[in-house]
Amino acid sequence: MGADKAKIVVGDQTYEVDIVTGTEGEKALDIGSLRGRSGLVTLDNGFGNTGSCRSSVTFLNGEKGVLKYRGIPIEELAQKSHFLEVAFLLIEGALPSREELDDFAQRIAKNSHLPEPFKKMMASFPQKMHPMGALSCGTVALSAFFPEGNPPDPSAEQRAKAITLLLGQMKAMIATYYRLRVGKELRDSDPGFDYSSDFFQMMFGEGDRDVDPEVAKALDTLLILHGDHEQNCSTSSVRMVGSGKANLFSSVASGINALWGPLHGGANEAVIDMLDEILADGGGYKKFLAKAKDKSDPFRLMGFGHRVYKNFDPRAKIIKGACDTVLSKLGVHDPVLDIAKGLEEEALKDDYFMERKLYPNVDFYSGIIYRALGIPTDFFTPMFVLGRLPGWLAQWKELREDPKMRIGRPRQIYMGKTDEAYVEMGVRPPKSEGP
Ligand code: SDX
Repeated sequence: MGADKAKIVVGDQTYEVDIVTGTEGEKALDIGSLRGRSGLVTLDNGFGNTGSCRSSVTFLNGEKGVLKYRGIPIEELAQKSHFLEVAFLLIEGALPSREELDDFAQRIAKNSHLPEPFKKMMASFPQKMHPMGALSCGTVALSAFFPEGNPPDPSAEQRAKAITLLLGQMKAMIATYYRLRVGKELRDSDPGFDYSSDFFQMMFGEGDRDVDPEVAKALDTLLILHGDHEQNCSTSSVRMVGSGKANLFSSVASGINALWGPLHGGANEAVIDMLDEILADGGGYKKFLAKAKDKSDPFRLMGFGHRVYKNFDPRAKIIKGACDTVLSKLGVHDPVLDIAKGLEEEALKDDYFMERKLYPNVDFYSGIIYRALGIPTDFFTPMFVLGRLPGWLAQWKELREDPKMRIGRPRQIYMGKTDEAYVEMGVRPPKSEGP
């Protein structure tokens, strides 16, 4: 990419900076030396205009609604691939050979058994602990059970071991915590199943009944669609924590904690709660659209809007289509699907939403499928964790392989008090009389 230049003029000073051009034509001002040369920092509330890194894992074009993993369009991967192959693609940067895929799957299968003391630890969690809290605690706790995944400077082999360990353990953790919560006998991983089917039988299996292939396929497609999404809130948290050379478990746990929020991955749970609220209110969704537009009303149309997509989220389009297919194949009729479709139809005709380019995002329809598969609402975001884990791992690996990696440490502009003196307790004015 040509090193074009840009000029930043401040008063009578001009600072020249490089323009970096990406392989998809995106351009960025490289301001890496700006403060040293000018004393200036940049401010960008929410980082909507700030690139944190160069990455080769995932490409988004929000204006066109494009999403590619390692250059391959998400639509092709959702149709032709399966989750473990996509995980390999994200983490290793290329589609695997048959031997590579079999080896990857075997290494993950071997790591899909939780240590007995670990299960006892999960069983001791408070019954009310949200599954995302259990996953966050469990992921950090894994560092105690697998110290080899801990070094601050892991070798390539240690990174590979920790990555396949987490892919196996996360699947087992989610299923195990579910069965502990519902008081069912725990089920172990069965290497005879593929990744998604094994997860499903660990979570819902009774006896040796096989997993419905339609269910497994629907689950597998949802996991693919959640695989990675460039520098979103949770991935940026994984990178930030990883940049301090904290171990992989604590880096991924920070991603889980960030994803929990209802503005991020927690939205899939919030969408279903919102749709159920509308259904309970009689199903009149137009009233709720008006609430979403009313600035005095805290109600937001969960599952709508996106920091990057100013067009349809390609994942939402695929999931919406899958809703009809999966629910009819499972013989499930969920009235909230009609409400969701009605909301989308109305919003896409409404100036408020169109002026702000608010479209359904990945979370708008996903919960309807999760519910049809029997997954409880508070396990929807853990499903997002399971899907996003390969993306977090790929981004963490890319960070740690970067010889130019530096600890993340943003600057600020101070807006607080200046030149204050210490005042002894006895003579401090009461707060109401403040300075
Ligand atoms: C995910 O970043 C990623 O890639 C995330 C993700 C991934 O795969 O990792 O895609 C997953 O997190 C998807 C998003 C899930 N969150 C939700 O569905 C929650 C509802 N959506 C919003 O809260 C919001 O749209 C965000 C958080 C997604 C984006 O927030 P921004 O970019 O900060 O946008 P904003 O809040 O500044 O909104 C801009 C305008 C505002 O109105 P004005 O002040 O211009 O009048 O749009 C309005 C907002 O009030 N708006 C909404 C709205 N979303 C934005 N109004 C009503 N309902 C909404 N959902």
